Amino acid sequence: MDAIELLETDHQRVSGLFEQIQQSDNLDDKRALFRTIKHEIETHAQIEENIFYPFFAKREDFQEIVDDSFADHQEVREILSELEDVLADTHTAEDDSSQVDDLIDELVACVDDHVEEEEGEFFPRVREVLDEDELEHLGQELESAKGDYPQAA
Ligand SMILES: [Fe+2]
Ligand SMILES: [Fe+2]
Repeated sequence: MDAIELLETDHQRVSGLFEQIQQSDNLDDKRALFRTIKHEIETHAQIEENIFYPFFAKREDFQEIVDDSFADHQEVREILSELEDVLADTHTAEDDSSQVDDLIDELVACVDDHVEEEEGEFFPRVREVLDEDELEHLGQELESAKGDYPQAA
């Protein structure tokens, strides 16, 4: 799988999980889905930040989009952490869970925007500057780095 296919597959998996958590009306299910989403996003962000973005950060024409991407990730992490706190404080069905839902919507919107920028601008430009062999090689690096982040039970 080339690097872009791998990253886009991650994006699709997260988007499917977002759909599930937004449709869920059960707090325990949301909590379980949140754990999976957090792990998926953190792993994906790590391999992009450690391998994919630095590969292009050296190129002047990619500097702005790489900087934007790092900033987007930071924003996503802040929402994840806020959502985690709110979930920890929301215990029973009687607790007001509207804050949970608002933060889920905020997270989805923030990630969607970022994914749109990657898939709509960043990745197409990557395809212009790397050939298929280079993309495959980079994909293998990403794949093996993913193995360093097993999901906790
Ligand atoms: Fe991504
Ligand atoms: Fe990203």
